[in-house]
Amino acid sequence: MPNATALLRDHLLLRQSKGESHVLLRPSVLQKATRLKNRGSHLPEPMTESPAPLPTTPSAEARQILEHPPASSKPHVCILPTNGNTNAEKIASLVAMAETWEVARQLGSLRETMVFSAGDPNARLMLIGEAPGAEEERQREPFVGPAGQKLTEILKAMGLERSQVYISNICKFRPAIENQGNSNRAPNDLEMATCLPFVMTEIDILRPQIVVALGATASKGLGLEGSVGSLRGRFHDFQGTAVMVTYHPSYLLREEKMNGGMEAKRQVWEDMLQVMERLGLPISQKQRNFFKLTR
Ligand code: URA
Repeated sequence: MPNATALLRDHLLLRQSKGESHVLLRPSVLQKATRLKNRGSHLPEPMTESPAPLPTTPSAEARQILEHPPASSKPHVCILPTNGNTNAEKIASLVAMAETWEVARQLGSLRETMVFSAGDPNARLMLIGEAPGAEEERQREPFVGPAGQKLTEILKAMGLERSQVYISNICKFRPAIENQGNSNRAPNDLEMATCLPFVMTEIDILRPQIVVALGATASKGLGLEGSVGSLRGRFHDFQGTAVMVTYHPSYLLREEKMNGGMEAKRQVWEDMLQVMERLGLPISQKQRNFFKLTR
């Protein structure tokens, strides 16, 4: 059973990683938190400038929010400071920051190796998956295992090479499991939240025309509520960027094994046709009719 201190720490880390730098505390809780900090169990310094000092008692408005938090909490904008002039330099400085990202490492549930991104940091199309798996960890590159091969196939069908797009993950570390071997698991909310500032900063640097969220984990990490089935097929807005949600390539692999996967593939292809249209990529009649011909 996690103790109250660990739960409080995790809760605060989650809120901090979503961009909050201050919380309102009752005086009694504040005293406890101060004792904790003095014992050395401190939170990392906030990334943003400090606003005005906190009041000691919450205002009526703040109390309302604390007592009735909104059911869905959209991620707050949290852009990390980067160095460099070009997108490649800025991403490189983010990678260096991620290597020693204490907020994620302190969770103790993510593995050591950091896997950041691949592809062109000037791309107009950015794809976001969930987290590195065994093969990605070995090669330190996202989407290079079986799901990655499926993704490469999808891109090829769109007339794109991996090097022409930017590929990233909502969580930069492989989530740990007991007796891990080659097994993988999806990152949980807290694990995603600790990496979200990176993803948001990547989007801010690239300013891609379209983000494709691959699967339910990535879309949830971006604050889109609902199943892939209910979200796919249309564009959503994520802080001013168009997001298309579609099925994760691993889902296509599972469906292929179970029933040939034709329906899932057709749906992904329909989503990708919309992406191609919006990007102004050429679409041949063959591409347009791809699943109409093979059904
Ligand atoms: N699945 C993902 O979501 N990301 C990877 O990098 C690999 C597999």
